[in-house]
Amino acid sequence: MSSLNEIQGRLALITGASGGIGAACAHQLAQKGVHLALTYSSSLTAISSLVEELKAKYSVAGSPNAIRISIHQVDVASAEQIENMFTQIDKEHGQRPDILVSNAGHGKRLPNIWEIPLEEFDYTINVNLRASFILTKGVVEHMKNQRWGRIVFMSSIAGYGGGINGCHYASSKGGLTGMMRNLSTRLAEFNISVNDVAPAMIGETGMIPNAQAIPEVAAGIPLGRLGTPEEVANVVTMLVTTGYMTGQSLLLAGGLK
Ligand SMILES: NC(=O)c1ccc[n+]([C@@H]2O[C@H](COP(=O)([O-])OP(=O)(O)OC[C@H]3O[C@@H](n4cnc5c(N)ncnc54)[C@H](OP(=O)(O)O)[C@@H]3O)[C@@H](O)[C@H]2O)c1
Repeated sequence: MSSLNEIQGRLALITGASGGIGAACAHQLAQKGVHLALTYSSSLTAISSLVEELKAKYSVAGSPNAIRISIHQVDVASAEQIENMFTQIDKEHGQRPDILVSNAGHGKRLPNIWEIPLEEFDYTINVNLRASFILTKGVVEHMKNQRWGRIVFMSSIAGYGGGINGCHYASSKGGLTGMMRNLSTRLAEFNISVNDVAPAMIGETGMIPNAQAIPEVAAGIPLGRLGTPEEVANVVTMLVTTGYMTGQSLLLAGGLK
């Protein structure tokens, strides 16, 4: 029954679509005919050019298969702004998302605990972990009612103890994996899958523009190169089109542990 995993015509919410990984996810889902609600926080130029590109490629005006794309400015640290975003989505799409890719993330690079102010710890948890809780609450009733849903959190190798950042970032990403595992067991009966993708050293992103930005770390990647946003999007696409897989955290790290 291929319809189990048919996503054409579904609505996906991708947070942080103005960044490298989120934009790559938007491209792949648009190519599969998925309607998109895309968020940005500060990068209006990036999200605008992404939407222009997506419309030109996948949303030929007048075509019955044209996809709808909306953009929403949201600071995901704010529950109120997330709520306003859902009100806009209700208006523009007439439904809540069928697919949630909770990808927006913040990671100020402070490797040692003594450098991390309490405020930075709290903010990182709010953006990376608390937001995924609020976003999931915003989509789950709709997914339960229709007995179909896909939720993907963007975690990190940091959640496994690796990576180049400090314990504030690691806690936020490790927390996501814990929340994902719990939700996957609670939501399976409603045919909602919940997984996370845990990347490391992905280039062409705001976090890591290129290998020169982290020369020593890049030199130690067993595969000898950075990952690409498209490779992360490949895994996200696989998860949203493979509903039997749930409760998994998939490390995508070029051989790093
Ligand atoms: N690059 C890597 O190697 C790597 C490794 C592991 C995990 N990740 C995770 O992958 C995800 C995507 O990051 P990326 O690598 O694509 O980096 P990126 O290009 O810097 O993208 C980050 C995205 O998150 C958004 N964002 C940041 N703070 C936000 C906030 N408070 N509210 C709403 N949106 C916010 C940014 O929006 P604006 O630009 O519009 O402000 C941007 O769209 C993050 O969760 C990150 O932790 C990345």
